[in-house]
Amino acid sequence: MALTHVVLLGPPGAGKGTQAKQIIDKLGLVHLSTGDILRDEVSRQTELGKTAKGFMDRGDLVPDQLIIDMIRGRIEAATAGFLLDGFPRTAAQAEALSEFATIDVVLNIGLAREEVVRRLTGRRVCRGCGEIYNLTFNLAEGETTCADCGGELYQRDDDKAEVIENRYDVYEKSTAPLIDFYKKLGVLRTLDGSAGSECVFSEIIGILTA
Ligand code: AP5
Repeated sequence: MALTHVVLLGPPGAGKGTQAKQIIDKLGLVHLSTGDILRDEVSRQTELGKTAKGFMDRGDLVPDQLIIDMIRGRIEAATAGFLLDGFPRTAAQAEALSEFATIDVVLNIGLAREEVVRRLTGRRVCRGCGEIYNLTFNLAEGETTCADCGGELYQRDDDKAEVIENRYDVYEKSTAPLIDFYKKLGVLRTLDGSAGSECVFSEIIGILTA
């Protein structure tokens, strides 16, 4: 029986989104990415999106209560299992999560700051299907369309060098302490995010289906 209440933890650019797409294809969990949900709110110019945009553009965290209110119902509705990507990110979010869901496993994907900066400056994302690319390994310089759906590729507003540095600082201060939090609960598994994407994926599937 596969583990079905799963959290992906890790710094920006560790590969959470890349792995999430493959995991849900294989295991059929509901992918709940707080970053994707927020970007959708921003693009639709909702009240939440307007509030969140400033925090996101600076690489700061959106206030805890807004995030908890946004995600709680979605988690409770995912009765067949969920894959949380980008949540929780603070002690307050982790405490709140523990009040409305149990967590089977936290997959902590580690990656050093220099590699994070290198990856995120080269990242491009498809506006159509959300496929994630990188100029350093699967996208030719100057390519502007998605190989899967033909959608336009774009660079995220928060993938500028100075914002990436702040995102990593914020990760170290606010999110990295969750590693100990989940280690104490006995649900933490740590993976090396600098390994190839397929290698990380097969390790994850091994953990989730053991
Ligand atoms: P969010 O969208 O969650 O961004 P993030 O956590 O910073 O993570 P990223 O999406 O940047 O990276 P990733 O780990 O998914 O890497 P990816 O797979 O794309 O959050 C954005 C903002 O929203 C936050 O800054 C905050 O403002 C707000 N927010 C979101 N959640 C929040 C919350 N809970 N509380 C408060 N605020 C919140 O990979 C990166 C690149 O590397 C890609 O180009 C990919 O192709 C490449 N790559 C992936 N894996 C590999 C590999 N193994 N080898 C080589 N390259 C690889």
